[in-house]
Amino acid sequence: MVAELGCATGPNTLKLMPELVKSTYQTFRARNRKDIPQIQIFLNDLYFNDFSTVSRSLPKFMKDLEKERDGDVGPLFISMTPGSYRKRIFPDNFLHFVHCANSAHWLSKVPNALSNESGESLTKGCLYLTDSSSPELVRAYHEQFAKDFISFLECRAQEIVRGGRMVVNMMGLVDEKKVSEFNIPFYPATMVEVNRLVSNEGSFSLHKHETFTLDWDMPEGDKMDVLKRARFVAQTDRVASEYMISTQFGEVFTDEFYRRFADRIRRHLAAGYQLQTFHQVISLIKK
Ligand SMILES: C[S@@+](CC[C@H](N)C(=O)[O-])C[C@H]1O[C@@H](n2cnc3c(N)ncnc32)[C@H](O)[C@@H]1O
Repeated sequence: MVAELGCATGPNTLKLMPELVKSTYQTFRARNRKDIPQIQIFLNDLYFNDFSTVSRSLPKFMKDLEKERDGDVGPLFISMTPGSYRKRIFPDNFLHFVHCANSAHWLSKVPNALSNESGESLTKGCLYLTDSSSPELVRAYHEQFAKDFISFLECRAQEIVRGGRMVVNMMGLVDEKKVSEFNIPFYPATMVEVNRLVSNEGSFSLHKHETFTLDWDMPEGDKMDVLKRARFVAQTDRVASEYMISTQFGEVFTDEFYRRFADRIRRHLAAGYQLQTFHQVISLIKK
């Protein structure tokens, strides 16, 4: 039983699955198991995700997989499980492997404590944390992330069988001094914070913790027009954040928001800066 949490509708929805099928078969064969693995994959995202498009992509996915594996594919079942992974979405002791990519850094809501004791706004007109954000604001984001991440771990701890694995890939920070800009309900935690939360929650042991950076740009972006690159980057962000931005500010403002965002990126790229994202991947084993 496998779950892909926050699967979205796009190129990454089923990206891991061929690799997962391959390694499951390899493991069975390495252990001399004669039975054919039966794999059930649950694709999860929020209720408004475009599951119809995901469903329509499945015949091609299965066909490509069979071709890639030269017909060596046993029973493979794929289901959709709409709902928030911040709550329970599967029965007790049900899942053997969980994957969650590029989602866990999104917060369930903007932190409450966005004003100080005298009622002054801590954001000072910014829509995100910046290097100059007050320690109170950074703390409010950190506390919201801690709450969300712990409840995510608690739910999965009930759903994953003992010895089951979970791999979470999320955006993060190299260290706390490098707090760069990010949008409202988003918190790039440091590795130290994530380790501490996993250990405090207590249900999982940390198997591996790795980091990598990705260029946030079009392929061969340096040869492309800056405006085109900026629009591409803004669009990739829009796929992930539009729901939250339109909920926060209203749909009327959303197009303008992303237009202005693209313009900021254009100026950034035109000044010769590169856009990169820092990621961390944790591999956990249910105790
Ligand atoms: C940036 S996209 C990542 C999509 C895909 N996993 C990838 O790696 O490209 C984040 C996805 O997480 C989903 N998501 C955010 N909060 C969620 C929640 N509480 N429960 C389930 N899905 C959630 C969003 O709807 C969105 O599709």
